[in-house]
Amino acid sequence: MSLIQDAARVRENAHAPYSGFKVGAAIRTVEGHVHLGCNVENVAYPEGTCAEAGAIAAMIAAGDKRIAEVAVIADCPAPVPPCGGCRQKLAEFASGDVVVTMATTAGARLQMTVAELLPGAFDAGYMVNADKDAP
Ligand code: THU
Repeated sequence: MSLIQDAARVRENAHAPYSGFKVGAAIRTVEGHVHLGCNVENVAYPEGTCAEAGAIAAMIAAGDKRIAEVAVIADCPAPVPPCGGCRQKLAEFASGDVVVTMATTAGARLQMTVAELLPGAFDAGYMVNADKDAP
């Protein structure tokens, strides 16, 4: 089964009663495992979580750390791009050359790397002068 098919399968479980917009995400890790996530909305709207965040949480809970490939799918007019927050979350666990395949349920596909999705990402390298004694 392809990573897009995995994402499409988990999308069926999305809890999106407020937006009506179901999203599925699948991550393949360098260890070769696949972890899945879907969006989980909440009546307190800001408490909802994206599909990508769910897949990352599943990856970490399973003991994997590095992303090799990402797929995300929704029913929309053009391939669904990860939101800004999810781009930063993906960059935490993926190198810049990792490919993110964005998809629609109708069959459209768009591939971009993590670095293309988040140019100029903030990373720990900027923190070398940080005050380690700060509370
Ligand atoms: N959403 C995702 O899960 N991933 C994306 O890449 C884009 C947006 C969700 C969040 C919310 O539940 C719904 O889609 C509408 O924003």
